Amino acid sequence: MIPIILSGGSGSRLWPLSREAYPKQFLPLAGKDTMLQATWHRVAPLTTSAPIVVANEAHRFMVAEQLREAGCTPSAIVLEPLGRNTAPAIAVAALQAMAGGDDPLLLVLPSDHVIADATAFRTAVLRAESAARKGRLVTFGIVPSGPETGYGYIRAKSDDTAADGARDVAEFVEKPDAATAAGYVASGDYFWNSGMFLFRASLYLAELERQSPAMLIACRAALAKAAVDADFVRLDQVSFSECPSDSIDYAVMEKTALASVLPISVGWNDVGSWSALWDIAEQDGNGNAHHGDVIARNCRDTLAWGDGRLVALLGLQDVVVVDTADAVLVAHKDHVQDVKSIVSSLKAQG
Ligand code: GDD
Ligand code: MG
Repeated sequence: MIPIILSGGSGSRLWPLSREAYPKQFLPLAGKDTMLQATWHRVAPLTTSAPIVVANEAHRFMVAEQLREAGCTPSAIVLEPLGRNTAPAIAVAALQAMAGGDDPLLLVLPSDHVIADATAFRTAVLRAESAARKGRLVTFGIVPSGPETGYGYIRAKSDDTAADGARDVAEFVEKPDAATAAGYVASGDYFWNSGMFLFRASLYLAELERQSPAMLIACRAALAKAAVDADFVRLDQVSFSECPSDSIDYAVMEKTALASVLPISVGWNDVGSWSALWDIAEQDGNGNAHHGDVIARNCRDTLAWGDGRLVALLGLQDVVVVDTADAVLVAHKDHVQDVKSIVSSLKAQG
């Protein structure tokens, strides 16, 4: 089993801490390890195979340095000249993993999630192996806690009652609208897609070829013409630019007939917003979670993130304060999802 660590996202929902130049996977958001390092530590006991890491060219030194610090020697750091989303990133990793003539199982991992119970997670991965070996694309399902629209929703076949094993998927719907998501959650029949997958490299490539042949052609060319420089495998810019952009969820998981879902309960959190970070942070008796140099008096349910300077809060409730060198966010807890719109307007202004 080869871990494939996806590290190319931009994590704009944790602005101003997470930036294009410094996305959340490179930040120590939950503990002293960065999210990338924690991802590696979580799976290292599972396999002796070196991981393949797929990242953006712009982050190459940060990726290499953080992996080295974590004691991780990847077999390759595949560098994308530009982001084409997760389906191509996984395709180039699968092609790279098969380059030696093997057809290994790939454990595909986002690099920006928190999993509280790593032992339970590893047990689940080992349990998923038999289905993956039998030719299934296995994903790990989370019992939803609300009608989030940022996730994939999975319904298992009702006649497949192997609740502790991988169940055949009846339906996979990526990022439904709010009303649909609410209906799914109310029905009790759906899991969230955790964004982690286990499958054979060749099976993923075969499914991609059926659903999106142009993508596979572009990925093959980008890797065939890649420049190899020590651990770095730099994909060919021209070929990769021609690759359609899509996620594994839309390009493969929604369409395949070979998906399975293994329900897991491992303390999963994708830290997709400041309120999600709040949920996992250590809180005082008044619900305040503070990071860095923070003084708070008469505050309840505040999240304050200092990044060097002293941050002082007086008499606040339900407020998020994030201080960085060149931007400060002050937001009501119920509006933290809107940081995306700030990031978009900043991008539009150039
Ligand atoms: N190398 C590379 N290149 N990595 C990428 C790229 C890319 O172009 N785009 C995203 N990633 C990485 C991100 O860094 C993250 O670790 C992972 O791939 C998933 O990408 P996201 O952009 O965070 O996906 P999402 O959160 O919108 O949706 C996915 O995850 C949800 C759970 O967190 C989907 O799989 C959903 O179905 C799922 O519910
Ligand atoms: Mg995500």
